Amino acid sequence: MKTRITKLFDIEHPIIQGGMHYVGFAELAAAVSNAGGLGIITGLTQKTPAELEKEIARCRKMTDKPFGVNLTFIPTVGSSDYPGYISAIIEGGVKIVETAGRNPQKYVSMLKDAGVKVIHKCTSVRHALKAETIGCDAVSVDGFECGGHPGEDDIPNMILLPRAAEELKIPFVASGGMADARSLVASLSLGADGINMGTRFIATKEAPVHENVKRAIIAATELDTRLVMRPLGNTERVFNNATVKRLLEKEASLGKNIRFEDIIEEVSGVYPKVMMDGEIDSGAWSCGMVVGLIHDIPTCKELINRIMSEAEAIIRNRLEGMLA
Ligand SMILES: Cc1cc2nc3c(=O)[nH]c(=O)nc-3n(C[C@H](O)[C@H](O)[C@H](O)COP(=O)(O)O)c2cc1C
Repeated sequence: MKTRITKLFDIEHPIIQGGMHYVGFAELAAAVSNAGGLGIITGLTQKTPAELEKEIARCRKMTDKPFGVNLTFIPTVGSSDYPGYISAIIEGGVKIVETAGRNPQKYVSMLKDAGVKVIHKCTSVRHALKAETIGCDAVSVDGFECGGHPGEDDIPNMILLPRAAEELKIPFVASGGMADARSLVASLSLGADGINMGTRFIATKEAPVHENVKRAIIAATELDTRLVMRPLGNTERVFNNATVKRLLEKEASLGKNIRFEDIIEEVSGVYPKVMMDGEIDSGAWSCGMVVGLIHDIPTCKELINRIMSEAEAIIRNRLEGMLA
């Protein structure tokens, strides 16, 4: 399949693995890229630019295909060394960056001048248009279903994607709720040039996370996520567990007076414990509603090949058949 996204990133299939904290290590990025998709290393999971440089070198040993790095712009405590991370990306010869979070304008020219293509992930048409204006090459349009931060507009992809198609000139991929061939074909119909998947890629053989996380994803249904931190204007869709229940009780009781410090125990430092140690109830970790559609743990190659062959069958048999 050829789309504007496969051409832009020189990849075989229009499937991207979104950056994921403590999931997007070299093993997963390389596996996705080797399977013909676009794998992405999560920049900020590497504590320093020097460590990111090493992770990029490790990935390069595992694949000769294009892969990218995610840079999430967040107001972190003791703010991150973004220019340092960007130097590591450029020095490492990485040609694709997925930006997310705050407006990446300050850094786009640095990346573009070095020949790096930028795909910005955002949750609204206005932010997607802004990304187009500041020179991003593509956008990843993240609907309300998504795991992680869906923004505050709550527009699901059935509306958000065709709205993006109405407004954007640059190519975009559909993100949030994507799991299989049905997601891909639906997204292409709605105007996207491919899909970006987060949660689905956690339940793959190569994802370097604890088996407990993969098993929890398989066992969960579409009813098993919750939105947290909405009162702080930093909404996150997470896997429901006992800690999330406690967090939501705090949000309900503290109401408008809530501060980040009140919930720090439930949301801070969670990822290594969950993803590496398998303590899946120890805090709030991002997870999409799409868990309801995830029933197995394939290799990335099996997953991507299955999506592509079933997508072709849907288009050739089901859809074309309806016209006959
Ligand atoms: C465990 C997890 C961690 C994530 N961490 C990040 C991150 O650090 N930066 C980022 O831009 N997006 C992050 N995301 C969002 C994904 O890149 C992707 O946009 C999202 O998962 C898409 O929705 P889906 O889970 O329904 O596929 C994360 C998602 C998950 C599930």
